[in-house]
Amino acid sequence: MEIYAQTLKTIAQKFGTPTYVYDLDRIKKQYRLFQEAFPWPKLGIFYAMKANYNHSVLTTLKNLGAGIDAVSPGDLHMAISWGFEKSRIIYTANNMKDTEMDEVVGTGVLLNIDSLSRLEKYAKKYPNTRICLRFNPDVVDGEHDKIKTGGDLTKFGILLEDVGKVKAITNKYGLKVVGLHEHTGSGLIKPDSILNAMEQIMSIATRENFPDLAFLDFGGGFKVAYGPDEVPVNYKKMGSQVVELFSKFTSTYGRQLELRFEPGKYLIAQAGQLLVEVNTIKHNRNRTICGTDSGFPQLIRPMFYDAYHAIENISNPAGENFIYDICGNICETGDLFAKDRSLPEIRENDILSIQDAGAYCYAMGGIYNLRPMPAEVVVENKKIFLSRKRLTSQQLIDLIRRESIDINRPTILKNTKTG
Ligand SMILES: Cc1ncc(COP(=O)(O)O)c(C=O)c1O
Repeated sequence: MEIYAQTLKTIAQKFGTPTYVYDLDRIKKQYRLFQEAFPWPKLGIFYAMKANYNHSVLTTLKNLGAGIDAVSPGDLHMAISWGFEKSRIIYTANNMKDTEMDEVVGTGVLLNIDSLSRLEKYAKKYPNTRICLRFNPDVVDGEHDKIKTGGDLTKFGILLEDVGKVKAITNKYGLKVVGLHEHTGSGLIKPDSILNAMEQIMSIATRENFPDLAFLDFGGGFKVAYGPDEVPVNYKKMGSQVVELFSKFTSTYGRQLELRFEPGKYLIAQAGQLLVEVNTIKHNRNRTICGTDSGFPQLIRPMFYDAYHAIENISNPAGENFIYDICGNICETGDLFAKDRSLPEIRENDILSIQDAGAYCYAMGGIYNLRPMPAEVVVENKKIFLSRKRLTSQQLIDLIRRESIDINRPTILKNTKTG
């Protein structure tokens, strides 16, 4: 722990702050634990790259044998460009346009279709091809309402009761349904949700309905403990229940299928942290505000989902504890990483580490207030590497200016597609 804190201090000194740090060895460990927890001979781990698209993270997972769950053309082309095999990528888009569908089909990557309307459009244009279908499992779970993706209040998936309509389309156009998919939510809290969702999908995954199945994909959602009071899930126990259920299913189905999952958080949330520097301590009557050099556009989970992230003062770990509001530098009162948090005394210029920031942190980031995103550094085998540099403000401005068209110069407009 001491050595690690020293490593973080070195990183902050060398690369400045704010900087994300990813522990690639931790990612490898999580991957192995996941494999061990689900001992099925044909286990497919399709990393949900929306959680973190950093190339060192992606390459680490690719080298371990992971596939990719891609959700946009950007995800798709990025994954292909880093060497993921197209046959190990699944494309799950929501409310996609026709052009997006064509683009995916053009790459040869399997499309996971999540509405009857899209299925019909796809079938007319690409009859006699292979597809995967996303169903709504009708199981409601997730660590925040905004990331529950099953049940009546979600926009995802085809309803289970519409399986007859699905069959009418797939039969008419000769589509081969090779996979069925569901994703219940992110950060599943109830221990039985995954089993319940599996049973729902298995209830329609009959030979009669879908004779060509090669896999069932039960999405992601494997929760990690963020807060100090959260009890870690027993994945060994869950995994053996899952494998037992799947094994029974495949004997009924009559063929050994691939068991697929799309973990995001489980693989990388705990492998990441954001280093920020404290620049202002302000005493506002009964609050002590600790101002840092980052903000919610660079780590939005607390503001977006009321998410808890542990914070450590790596500059003064043995200091006396006081209560702080840990804030960013953005023009919003909600720009808080933590409220009323007890931490060892924080002084100006201290470095804080915001923990468990590997998933949905950098990847959800933006440049609001025109502050460039943090640098990204990786640590592997005790060695430190800069994985992605931080843009300077000038580089960010130059980038935006290069893409901007001056409306007062019609000659430039004439040369553009829309001119
Ligand atoms: C379709 C799908 N698969 C997998 C995931 C990954 O979820 P998690 O990071 O909670 O494992 C998500 C994220 O919500 C998703 O939408």
